[in-house]
This record gives sequence, C-alpha cells and structure tokens, in this order.
Amino acid sequence: MVGRVEGKVFNHDQPEGLEVDSMSAQKPHLNLVVIGHVDHGKSTLMGRFLYEVGAVDERIIREYEEEAKKLGRETWKFAWVLDKLKEERERGLTIDLGFYKFETKKFFFTLIDAPGHRDFVKNMVTGASQADCALLVVSAKEGEYEAGISPGGQTREHAFLAKTMGVDQIMVAINKMDTVNYSKERYEEVRSGVARLLRMVGYRISKVQFVPTSAWYGDNVTKRSDKTPWYTGPTLLEAFDMFEEPPRPIDKPLRIPVQDVYSIRGVGTVPVGRVETGILKVGDVVVFMPPNIKGEVKSIETHHTRIPQALPGDNIGFNVKGVERTALRRGDVAGHPTKPPTVAEEFVGRIFVLYHPTAIAAGYTPVLHVHTATVPVRFAAIEKKLDPRTGAVVEDNPPFIKQGDAAVVRFKPLKPVVIERYSEIPQLGRFAIRDSGRTVAAGVVIDLKPAEIR
Ligand code: GTP
Ligand code: MG
Repeated sequence: MVGRVEGKVFNHDQPEGLEVDSMSAQKPHLNLVVIGHVDHGKSTLMGRFLYEVGAVDERIIREYEEEAKKLGRETWKFAWVLDKLKEERERGLTIDLGFYKFETKKFFFTLIDAPGHRDFVKNMVTGASQADCALLVVSAKEGEYEAGISPGGQTREHAFLAKTMGVDQIMVAINKMDTVNYSKERYEEVRSGVARLLRMVGYRISKVQFVPTSAWYGDNVTKRSDKTPWYTGPTLLEAFDMFEEPPRPIDKPLRIPVQDVYSIRGVGTVPVGRVETGILKVGDVVVFMPPNIKGEVKSIETHHTRIPQALPGDNIGFNVKGVERTALRRGDVAGHPTKPPTVAEEFVGRIFVLYHPTAIAAGYTPVLHVHTATVPVRFAAIEKKLDPRTGAVVEDNPPFIKQGDAAVVRFKPLKPVVIERYSEIPQLGRFAIRDSGRTVAAGVVIDLKPAEIR
C-alpha cells in the first residue's frame, strides 16, 4: 500500500504539473455520495453511469460480463464495477480516488463511496460529512419502495442523515422502472412519497431533481429513454450539472478533520483529510487536537498534484514535520495554533430521535459520530423536549425522550473530541448518535464547554 501511496501521490521526483488533472484544474469539484436502501440499485446504477460516461474501461466491463454470464447473472456486471473499484480504493490512499472520478460539463465529481453493506450507515456518517451533494437511489419495484420509506427503512434514514450531516443538495433516481413497466403512475407515487420525506427532513423540494431510471437497461442514465415519454426532465447526467457549487468558507478558522494518517518513506507523516473551513498553506504551523501536537506543513497534495495552498472542499494529504504518525489518528482535527480546534468537555445539542426501541433517559451512553471522529458519549441531561415541527419547548427536564421527539440534550463525551458550535463552524457542529449499528439521533451543537488543554 505504501508503495502505491509513494508512487501515486507523494512522488516528489515527478515533474510538477505532469499529472495535473485537466478536470480538477478547471472545473469546480464536488464530492458526491450515493445513498439509499439496500438493494435499490446504487452500485448497478453508478456502475452503468460510469461505464456510459467512459470513466470505466470497456475491457473491464467485458471481463465482468463474462464472469457474470457464467453465473447466469449478466446484469451484475455494472455492480461489479463499483465493487471492484471499492477494493481498489481500499488498497489505495483515500484521497487517490482513482476510478471514482468523473466529469460533467460543469463539474469534476468524486464519488465518495460505493455503499455495499447493510452496515453502511457508519460510513455514511463519515462519508456524508464530506459530501457536497447526494444521489438518493429509490427502487420503484413493488414492495421495495415501501420497505425503504418505512420507519426502519434506509431511504428514510439516509435522507435524514444526509441533511443532518450537512449535505445540502440532493437528487433522486427512481430506479428499476423496468419492473413497473415504466408506469407514470408508479413514478408519481414514489416521487411524491420521497418528496414528502425530503421536505420533512429539511430539503427545498423545488430544487430537487427526480429522474426515473433503469440501471439494467440504461434508461435516462446518460441517454433519454423512449420508454418514459411522459418524462421531460433531465437524465441523471444532466441532473448532476444542476447542482450548485457549494460556498467555500475561507474566512473561517482552519479545520481539517483527519481521515487517515500515513507514514511515507522519504516524506514523513502525511495526514489525509478534507479541508472543511479556512486555508492551509505550505509553511504553516498546524496544531492537531485533541492530542495538542504541533508541526510544520512541508507540502500539500491533492489528486496527485502538489499545491501551495488548500481551500475548503479540497481532499488533501499534507506532510507535517515534527509529528510522529503514531501520535495522530482518525478523528483528530488540524487547525492553526492561533485558533485551535475546540475540544469539548461537554456540549449541548439539539437533536431529533430517529430510532429507539424504547425510551432514552439521562445516563444513556451510545456512540457519537462527528466529522471523522467516533467516541462514546453520555446523555448527561435531557434539558428540553421540543415540538419537532416548530422547535417550541413542550416540556422542561423531561424524564425521557422517544422516537420522533426533538430535544435539547447536554452530552458528555467520554473521550476527548473536537466539536464546534454549529453557529460558528457548521461543518464541525453536526453529529449523529448511534447504538448497536443503528442511528438513534442526529443533531447540531448549540453550545459547548471547552475542555482545559494541558
Ligand atoms: P447494496 O449496496 O447492497 O445496498 O445494494 P445496491 O443498492 O448497491 O444494489 P445493487 O446495485 O447491488 O442491486 C441490487 C439488485 O437489484 C441486483 O440484483 C441488481 O441487479 C438489481 N437491480 C439494480 N438496478 C436494477 C434495475 O434498474 N432494474 C432491475 N430490474 N433490477 C435492478
Ligand atoms: Mg451496492
């Protein structure tokens, strides 16, 4: 793995600029996360899409096709594209997303993850916290749409998490249209159900594109389908261009949540992550919190290219001098020593309870997911119960809260963790609460008590 990292990302012998990606150099970059209920066709749809836009070698598809044919499952070929790429990616460096890149007229996209497991929500939490936009894939097939949108369904859960984790733009593919004879009525039924859900979690529906697709037959993926004459909207490809470039919060203090840390021969310690706010320049001294370790930035790279400075939205690896690899870990946050990332002793969050089998009382200790960090957290006090639609207080100091409730809760992280007020640095002020593989709640930080730093 290290060899790959050296060769691809941190090869300093390479003439500068040689590998500059024409895509990344010219077009705004968007991180896209693909979400949705299990088996609704995320991998197949994106595999088909990448193939049709030419982001995947035809030869590779042919190979999968052969394999799939042998198994009598020819349509698997597209899903395998993503599954193979996923392996690829796991061997490589996180910022080197290789095959996951694709380009539209307006944007250069990085596909953040290929959700492959039922236990994807955990990745979804960290993945979505880095995404600018999401594609929600919803199957139109009888029974499948209904399962996804039901209270325990992932259509619901992912939409909710995406919004909470700050993915402000979303579009929807209503997939497997072939299984419902490309019925306009079924499409409208699914569309209005999903629209209701998205409105409820806080999206502006007028901005959301819905596209009827079949990943199997390639309808409305990059080519307009003649089987949906009643549909006049964009193809998936065209809809990707209807996203907007997200704001780049360069005036805020620097925050880079660490996703991974590498030690690269001949280079040194290389944390990898996405710049959420502020600007990082070569020569800057940065401090990593909570460990409170400082180092000097010797170089910054993104997508194989050395850059003098990194801006919000950039996925980077940066070499810091004077810091041991083992001193850092995923979940630490880099900032400038003048405005170091805040380690919270306690914080107050406004949350919405998405799922809980019984009731939540003070003392409950699940897991907090915030940016790239994961730590145990205690519900220290439930201060207020709120009306989830209006935010009005309905009860002070309630003895417990339940599924469907909104609440103001004081939390106590059981390990040091960086977290910020949502009003100051929203990118680091949203969080999810999980327990036993389920997302229990999500929310924003409304206040916090900084820890004393030694
Ligand atoms: P997970 O990663 O497990 O959550 O699933 P996924 O959403 O990636 O679904 P995947 O692409 O693996 O597809 C699930 C099943 O649906 C496979 O058997 C696909 O062949 C099938 N499928 C995907 N898209 C379509 C489609 O457009 N039409 C039909 N009929 N089947 C489809
Ligand atoms: Mg999949």
